[in-house]
Amino acid sequence: MKLAIFASGRGSNFAAILKAVKKGKVAATVELLVCDTPSAAVIQKAQKGGVKVALVERQRFASTAEFEAAIIRQLQEAGIELIVLAGFMRMLGPSLIQRYRGRIINIHPALLPAFKGAAGIHDAFFYGVKVTGVTVHFVDEEMDHGPIILQQAVVVRPTDTLESLEARIHATEHRLYPQAIQLLVKNKLRIEGRQVRIC
Ligand code: GRF
Repeated sequence: MKLAIFASGRGSNFAAILKAVKKGKVAATVELLVCDTPSAAVIQKAQKGGVKVALVERQRFASTAEFEAAIIRQLQEAGIELIVLAGFMRMLGPSLIQRYRGRIINIHPALLPAFKGAAGIHDAFFYGVKVTGVTVHFVDEEMDHGPIILQQAVVVRPTDTLESLEARIHATEHRLYPQAIQLLVKNKLRIEGRQVRIC
C-alpha cells in the first residue's frame, strides 16, 4: 500500500513509521511527505530517507480548495492509497476528506475525546490527570473526532514533569502508529458507525 505522510514539524512519527516500513513491520511504502512548513525538520528526515517531498504552503493559494487541489494532484500522481497525518498542524477541508474518506488517519497525544486540540499532552498534564495516552483514529470533518482505531494508556507518575511525560507519550506514539497502519494495510479494520472492529 502506498502511503503519504502529512507533517508540519519535527517528524519523529514520520521517522518511526519509515523505520517500521524499512524493518518490514508495516507492509507499505512511504511514497510522499506532504509538508506545509518550509522550515520543518521533517523535510530533512524525508530527504535522508529517500522520500519525495511535496511542499505546499497555504499562503501561496487563494483558497483552501485550491490548496487542497494542489495536494490532491500530488497524491494522485504518486498513487497514494492512505494518508497518515503525523503532526500536520492544519485541519483538512472537505475536498480531501470526501475524496479519501476512510483512508485518512491521525494520531493524537491524549486519550480522545479528552484533551482535543494542538496541546493535548500539556493540557492533560496541567489538568492533573493520572492517566493519559495516545489515540489513533480515522479523520472526519471534525477535529480529533473520527472513529478510534487504537488507544494506549500512559500513566502519569507523581515525579513526572511535562518533559518526561512528553517523552513517554512520544515513545508510545512511535510504537502505536505503525501497529495501526499495519492493521489498515492488512485490511483488518471495519468501521461500523463510531466503532472500529479489528478482525
Ligand atoms: C505528535 O505528538 C502527534 O500526536 C501530534 O503532533 C505531534 C507530532 O510530533 N498530532 P512529531 O512531528 O511526529 O515529532
